[in-house]
Amino acid sequence: MQSKLPHVGTTIFTVMSALAAEHKAINLSQGFPDFPVSDTLKELVKAALDADQVQYAPMAGRVDLRQQIAALVSARHGIAVDSDLEITITAGATQAIFTAIATLINPGDEVILFDPAYDCYDPAVILFGGKPVHLALRFPSYQIDWEQLEQQITAKTRLIVVNNPNNPAGSVWSEHDLKEFERILAKHKNLYVISDEVYERIQFSGQHQSVLKSELLRSRSFVMYSFGKTLHVTGWKIGYCIAPAALTAEFRKVHQFNVFCVNNTMQHAIAAYLERFNDLDTIAGMYQAKRDLFTGALKTSRFKIMPCEGTYFCLLDYSQITGESDVDFARRLTIEHGVASIPVSVFYQQRTDHKVLRFCFAKTDETLITATEKLCKI
Ligand SMILES: Cc1ncc(COP(=O)(O)O)c(C=O)c1O
Repeated sequence: MQSKLPHVGTTIFTVMSALAAEHKAINLSQGFPDFPVSDTLKELVKAALDADQVQYAPMAGRVDLRQQIAALVSARHGIAVDSDLEITITAGATQAIFTAIATLINPGDEVILFDPAYDCYDPAVILFGGKPVHLALRFPSYQIDWEQLEQQITAKTRLIVVNNPNNPAGSVWSEHDLKEFERILAKHKNLYVISDEVYERIQFSGQHQSVLKSELLRSRSFVMYSFGKTLHVTGWKIGYCIAPAALTAEFRKVHQFNVFCVNNTMQHAIAAYLERFNDLDTIAGMYQAKRDLFTGALKTSRFKIMPCEGTYFCLLDYSQITGESDVDFARRLTIEHGVASIPVSVFYQQRTDHKVLRFCFAKTDETLITATEKLCKI
């Protein structure tokens, strides 16, 4: 059979996690927390099961959950989002992104992506006959070069995908970035946006500059979120997409034949959690303490710590240690030194190697301390 994705193999996340398991290394490669989920949330899952909340949810997601999300958005950004017409619950942000790309992209459409880029954007564009156009974020700040973006927009450009806070870079947008994006979109009326904001709650200074804050950007955007990140339950794969009513209507046409609806029991539990607790603002502080523990312990190491303003990933520049490629060094670090990471070149279409590795610090303090002790010995 002819492959529709001939360049896609086993992902580096699978490769590095397998290598970490084989060599009993500390796995800071894949982005998931290794600490337990809150007991309250577990109790609410049990309560949802006891209440027999186990049949299909409504296609767009449970009404109570969508109403809770609308309340969160209103409290955070001071805007009204219609929970009936503008919010759809999805199987994680991944399905939301795939569905939005399926909704928008026709053969020959160009889609602008910024490298280093999260890995699910490019293959989805290709599957629907689109042409990914990869632009590099500026190095080492990992910020968008807005002038370059403007130059790369053509009559065929249909979609721009942005990710703020950025995985893997840990960079975040300023108000200036939002204004620049707004200025460019105002000039190009046929352009749409996917704004991947799954780490919106994990930003360490300043306000999260969501595209929802701009009337103009919001009118053209599918904005993606993930409860996996916010409630430390990546395995539940519950996320959501916020988009204007007309875009949501088209999005749901695809969504209903893609999954129809997603896990009712977990939606019930999350809705109940959000109704009872107002603690999502504490997440950033919890992760900031972990970032500071990780980076503080590495001050005496030979790694150069790159700025991390958001997400639960930290980049380390190892150019003072070795000239090896980042893929080779990540392998050796796992096998010989017992710490697994992700080489950042895999997030670039051109495999650009800046001698930087990505480490996930969503781990217990104990795990982080043991890992930094190993890294300091190199
Ligand atoms: C930038 C980014 N977008 C999307 C996702 C996918 O989120 P989900 O697990 O909710 O599908 C991730 C998960 O790692 C991510 O880092």
